[in-house]
Amino acid sequence: AAEIPTRRFAVNNLSARQIRLGRLEYRGYDSAGIALQRKDKFDLFKKAGRLDALRSTLPKRNAATCGIGHTRWATHGEPNDLNAHPHVDSSGAISIVHNGIIENAGALRTYLTERGHTFASDTDTEVLAALIADEFLLDENLTRAIRSAVARVAGTYGIVAMHAQVPGLLVAARNGSPVVIGVGDNEMFVASDIAAIAPFTRQIVHLEDGEIATLTAKRHEIQDFQATITNRPTSTIKIDTTLASKGDHEHFTLKEIVEQPDAIRRTLSGRLDERFNTAHFGGLNLNAKELMAFKRIKILGCGSAYISGSIGASMIERLARIPTDAESAAEFRYRNPIIDPQTLYLAVSQSGETYDTLTAVQEIQRKGGTVLGIVNVVGSSIARQCGAGMYLHAGPEVAVVSTKTFACTLTAFALLALHIGRMRDVSPAEGANVIRALNELPQQIQSLIDRRTEFEQVAKKYADYHRAYFIGRCEGFGLAREGALKLKEISYIHAEAYPASELKHGPLALIDEQTPTFAIVPDDDLLAKNLSTLAEIKTRKGPVVAIGQSEALNVEIDDYIHVPRYHPLTDPILLLIPLQFLAYYTALARDCDVDQPRNLAKSVTVE
Ligand code: F6R
Repeated sequence: AAEIPTRRFAVNNLSARQIRLGRLEYRGYDSAGIALQRKDKFDLFKKAGRLDALRSTLPKRNAATCGIGHTRWATHGEPNDLNAHPHVDSSGAISIVHNGIIENAGALRTYLTERGHTFASDTDTEVLAALIADEFLLDENLTRAIRSAVARVAGTYGIVAMHAQVPGLLVAARNGSPVVIGVGDNEMFVASDIAAIAPFTRQIVHLEDGEIATLTAKRHEIQDFQATITNRPTSTIKIDTTLASKGDHEHFTLKEIVEQPDAIRRTLSGRLDERFNTAHFGGLNLNAKELMAFKRIKILGCGSAYISGSIGASMIERLARIPTDAESAAEFRYRNPIIDPQTLYLAVSQSGETYDTLTAVQEIQRKGGTVLGIVNVVGSSIARQCGAGMYLHAGPEVAVVSTKTFACTLTAFALLALHIGRMRDVSPAEGANVIRALNELPQQIQSLIDRRTEFEQVAKKYADYHRAYFIGRCEGFGLAREGALKLKEISYIHAEAYPASELKHGPLALIDEQTPTFAIVPDDDLLAKNLSTLAEIKTRKGPVVAIGQSEALNVEIDDYIHVPRYHPLTDPILLLIPLQFLAYYTALARDCDVDQPRNLAKSVTVE
């Protein structure tokens, strides 16, 4: 997460400093640093831990007008002060920040060591700094040095570098990791995300893969790796630059859970067509004929986005009766997938920057497939790469775990199921039922949010266990996966999701008094099957918490969370809410860092 502090970043302005790197902290928060140009050397400040740790090391005053900063999510080398970015080569000439992974760093390190460079850290980035310094010795031009250096590099990078003896010059390069330039009035910005730039200028240019940008306060020039100038006009961005704040809430995670009714209203806004009892979208770029020509749908995403896709697949298949499945984008992109022109691909991402999802989209497009984005962050890489799709409008999601975006994604799938379903077999009357359910959804979620102390009590009761099962069938299994993932991420309890139907084929061996099971039990035609699974667990003395819709659970369970039943398409979204609270309150009871859990980053822009 590279960002360039400029004059305004001068170290005598503490609050400004917080804002800039703070806006990129979601990309990694295990260490951070800044390098400022001073005469012919760098002032370098680096610290392991959260931004606050770095902040406390900074001097009150600094006259620098050019510098770079970074927040890190460790790939090569453990998160400590030395491995934090920026990295400076052993001659002190080059300072660099880097997102991505240099795959041939080992070989380059050997080569550079033979040429007299020494290394202080374990990172691939320091190797890059040394390589650029080495190339700079040849003709003393930073842009050319970087062009020659990247020609020797295998891997992905978004980099920004400066030379100690070339004041006021920054050079950025991109291959696979986002870099955006902000053009100000006598000042220039570069960052890995518009959010860090938007407070200062709305004039931006995205760097594309294979491009190098040379920046001074007054001008910028973009070239490709063959040195052909590829300058293009700036575009004006429209984004809300106010930082999301926690308001009265203790954590962003809680805030984002409780603001789900409003977030869902935004996802629904303008998309329900009560005249034709369907949903419509402005940005799919596919007319009814084109949409009807698809024989299958495949949904791709990573982590929670992938899980939302698996539930969305069931929702679409259930209502629209078109074969739909979901796959991890990270798995998909590596298995040389067959791209079927009659399959509509959907790429799901909150950040719109997840590298595995982005490359899956590129793989589909390269093979002639059609892919739409279901993305939260407007103007993000995946949204731009897809060129069509729908925005979730969930609002900024700051907590590392996805909560409101997950609920909004399921809402988007419900809309899509209705849209496609009404072109196929769904009757106007059933369409009207779905619209009613969607319109009522925010209020129903609010009723569950109002019961949060009940969920807190259950969470506290199970907070000291070391492991848990989450089970369900069909959409319920997807919810079990999401519930387990949330619990793992923020409470560090090992939680395994399993289809309830599969439990007896193995995992039942692990059920005992120390292993609670959280079961998703909708009041549907699989209720009896789910109940017999619960009986099998109770027979083995396993504690059971049911999150269900039927008051008439005829099995002795330990705790029951009742979720009202409304419509099969929207019920999974209601069943989700207690699972989110269970994870949140469990993490709280265990004194975990809920908003920034260990080892994670909000957006994973590396492989
Ligand atoms: C889980 C979580 C992650 C993300 C995943 C994809 O709570 O947040 O699993 O869902 O890293 O991120 P996006 O949606 O930004 O592509």
